[in-house]
Amino acid sequence: MSSNDIGVDYARREIRQMAGYVPGYQPPPGSKIIKLNTNESPFPPSPAVSQALSKVLAESNLLRRYPEPQSLELRRVASEVAGCRADQVIAGNGSDELLRILLDTFVEEGERVAYFTPSYSLYPVLTRIRGGLIRVLPLFQDGSLYQPCLDDIKLFFLTSPNAPLGFSFSNDYIRQMVKDFHGILVVDEAYADFAQDNALSLLDEFNNLVILRTLSKSYGLASLRVGLGFAGVDLIEQLDKVRDSYNLDRLAQVGARAALKDQAYLQKTVALVIQERQRLTAVLSDLGFTVEPSQTNFIFVTPPDGYKAVTLHSDLEKAGILVRYFSDPQLSHGLRITIGTEAEMDQLITTINDLM
Ligand SMILES: Cc1ncc(COP(=O)(O)O)c(C=O)c1O
Repeated sequence: MSSNDIGVDYARREIRQMAGYVPGYQPPPGSKIIKLNTNESPFPPSPAVSQALSKVLAESNLLRRYPEPQSLELRRVASEVAGCRADQVIAGNGSDELLRILLDTFVEEGERVAYFTPSYSLYPVLTRIRGGLIRVLPLFQDGSLYQPCLDDIKLFFLTSPNAPLGFSFSNDYIRQMVKDFHGILVVDEAYADFAQDNALSLLDEFNNLVILRTLSKSYGLASLRVGLGFAGVDLIEQLDKVRDSYNLDRLAQVGARAALKDQAYLQKTVALVIQERQRLTAVLSDLGFTVEPSQTNFIFVTPPDGYKAVTLHSDLEKAGILVRYFSDPQLSHGLRITIGTEAEMDQLITTINDLM
């Protein structure tokens, strides 16, 4: 055994045995690929973001200093947008960091964390790192949604709208789930800006409910890594103890504030995405695809008989269009396609027409 192998043995058994999370492929800058594989916005962020960031960079002396540790001004702006109090908000380095903070705050080693499958494939990875036990529940029973038994569950991740299928859970469903739950329900609303409804109105009803949002999708800010968590004041206080002291850098705080303040731009770009989502849904349905109704900035589609999803994925890749294929048997019949600009969707439609 080389001295290197011995070093690896010092890693916790759980870590050695697990596979790490594999994010969607990011092509190198400048490549001509049409990128529809990781649900980013097809639009740049509000112009107010680059103006705000330029101001910080012009005063580079500011970069010498640590950023404001609690992102208080960002929390205040976020609370105005969400219609809640500023002390009901926490900001994270992406909502991925908030997921980790939630696990570190609430889950003892050996306690159970549950989520539906399919949903966001980072949940099991973070749960294993934390040393929690995973309970994976099917999304449907006899073809319909149902209320799972949560008796021995400490924390439940509910992705609403669901990724990768795209449908939303109703607030009645969420209310039913959280009301007798002796644990924490985390509603991961990464795509809620594209949906008709969201769960923010339930925030004041339940003290074991946490809602997560991200600026990575609707706000076109995936690079800046900003997520937001909403919960009761007492929960936020606990989460704040676990967060890194300077978890959001100065640029992220400034850029996120500028993006949140420009709600007109958000509404305009979200409307364009929804318009293209509706168009692509109609065109692919006409071509014989099964398209899951979506409340998000992506659609999950199953190609017509005779064209395997895995084949279509690689045919599109050869044509310079990247979409997401999941080898998970529950999803391998379909593809998840992020909604792009009108021109990108035209190109996708032309390519699919040619291929078929
Ligand atoms: C359901 C869901 N939650 C969270 C995230 C992560 O968001 P962030 O970029 O804020 O870490 C994603 C990103 O793909 C997602 O799909």
